[in-house]
Amino acid sequence: MSRPAVLITRRLPSSVVERLEEQCTVQMHDGPEAMPADELRSRLADAQALMCLLTDRVDGAVLDAGPGLRIVANIAVGYDNIDLAAARARGVVVTNTPDVLTEATADFTWGLILAVTRRISEGERTLRRGEWSGWALDFMLGSDLRGKQLGIIGLGRIGRAVAARAGAFGMRVACATLEPGAGAQGTADAAWTRLALDQLLSTSDVVSIHVPLTPATRHLIDRRAILRMKRRAYLVNTSRGPVVDEAALAWALGEGLIAGAALDVYEQEPRVHPDLLGLENVVLAPHLGSATVETRTAMADLAARNVLAVLSGSAPLTPVAG
Ligand code: GLV
Repeated sequence: MSRPAVLITRRLPSSVVERLEEQCTVQMHDGPEAMPADELRSRLADAQALMCLLTDRVDGAVLDAGPGLRIVANIAVGYDNIDLAAARARGVVVTNTPDVLTEATADFTWGLILAVTRRISEGERTLRRGEWSGWALDFMLGSDLRGKQLGIIGLGRIGRAVAARAGAFGMRVACATLEPGAGAQGTADAAWTRLALDQLLSTSDVVSIHVPLTPATRHLIDRRAILRMKRRAYLVNTSRGPVVDEAALAWALGEGLIAGAALDVYEQEPRVHPDLLGLENVVLAPHLGSATVETRTAMADLAARNVLAVLSGSAPLTPVAG
């Protein structure tokens, strides 16, 4: 019997590729850039499995280019890059990589919270420009976290892991309940205060976003939402860029309507809104939330195990709902 063919759109750790090669014929795009969409379609012709990244758009046209496809394994927890209805209509299983990246992403979110409230990136830029003239009592003062409120929007796995770390910094937690359909809602710790979104925005000192990108969450944080925030508050986004209206955020930061923001994700990655690039009160990270050796390897490994399960006729380990 011929071995099933797996197409991988980006270089993966060799241990993961070797595991797949024990049972499958593997084709991997090895370039530094994402696989061009036309190449993706042409190389799918003989594939039974596709392992892809959040930078690959997998829609009906792509799925039609792979008539033998049985599984699309996204190497990411978010899957807004995949047309789930189109996959379902063609009987193609879609999987993602939850859990394995929760802790790394929660740690990174706290890195951003500290970076923006303590002005770490801004301070480093000043130092590198040779503009630091020495210690001064009133130089580059940030904001304490202790005693303040962390507002978590979205209580999925990552939102809960971020909230669980708040005690270490002396922060109390509030969490927002979104409309049904706007993302997974998990259980809240008894100490966390549940608030409506508007109330969370108007009372929190740091607002951190942890919802998936859906039609209900696109531009959830728009000009109106930002205007509800305190003038001394900070906005942090490690979820998906389009959840925040970047133009509205840049305007609010420029006008001093909130104290600062820290972003790991953007509306049109890798493009960043030009108005954000010129601002000192925003920390801009290049989508690094889950970027540790251990976590990225675990994500690729989980995606590979999903592929091997489905190709051998078993149930996928982590199918996406929908
Ligand atoms: C990263 O953004 C992911 O969804 O895994």
